Amino acid sequence: MSQLDPQKLPVHLAVIMDGNGRWAKQRMLRRIVGHQRGAETVKMVVEQSSLLGIKYLTLFAFSSENWSRPALEVRGLMTLLKKYIRQETARMMRKNIRYNVIGNRTDLPDDVNDTLDEAIQKTAANTGMVLTLALSYGGRQELCRAAARMTEDAVAGKLSASDITTELFDSYLDTGALPDPDFLIRTSGEMRISNFLLWQLAYTELYFTETNWPDFTINELHKALAAFQARERRFGMTGDQITERGDLSKD
Ligand code: IPE
Ligand code: IPE
Ligand code: MG
Repeated sequence: MSQLDPQKLPVHLAVIMDGNGRWAKQRMLRRIVGHQRGAETVKMVVEQSSLLGIKYLTLFAFSSENWSRPALEVRGLMTLLKKYIRQETARMMRKNIRYNVIGNRTDLPDDVNDTLDEAIQKTAANTGMVLTLALSYGGRQELCRAAARMTEDAVAGKLSASDITTELFDSYLDTGALPDPDFLIRTSGEMRISNFLLWQLAYTELYFTETNWPDFTINELHKALAAFQARERRFGMTGDQITERGDLSKD
């Protein structure tokens, strides 16, 4: 396993968990079986991230556009989600992990929302990793919701055009309380963002692997994190400026 520098881990790791359906198809299994196996990978990544000391883990679990999938698959995913949350909450308590959800929760079935509320409440005082599930989530939809709320506040006289800064805009997003992701992993060989965290990914380092999500292992996670550690993040500055800053921070 690659050696990781604990000082240089991403504070916020985001993952587009993709390839469950293809994993199942390759094995002549139903797509839902791929999702069930994918849930095992979720357990591993949550546990490893928390062990490594990553502060925020955000998982793209169900997109706004995924509602257009066959009803049977959507139902299967909702049932699996409920089962996962119920089964894992005790472990989240033991590991001091706090649940958080982003996305349009009004579209989720009531029983799923009840399960989520229970898990969020139960883990609310935990101080370890924040595990954010993106459910019924789309970046464009989130930006529209933020713009709508800003408009309401403007009409109510609580906000004017000159107040609008990137920080203020940030605070209206579902992710208001989270830092931007430092690192994004997408599995299954697709090299696109698929409407995930459009605003927040501005300076995120991107990593793509051919492995389908159910086959993603601890070794692959460590390999991805090692790749992150080898990147130079410049945020628009020059490489020399970043090196100088690094030298200064060592003093
Ligand atoms: C990711 O796997 C899980 C969800 C989007 C819910 P997919 O279901 O997208 O798997 P592929 O892309 O069809 O293989
Ligand atoms: C992105 O995967 C959404 C999730 C992982 C939940 P999709 O499988 O829905 O993305 P596309 O359709 O291939 O872009
Ligand atoms: Mg997919």
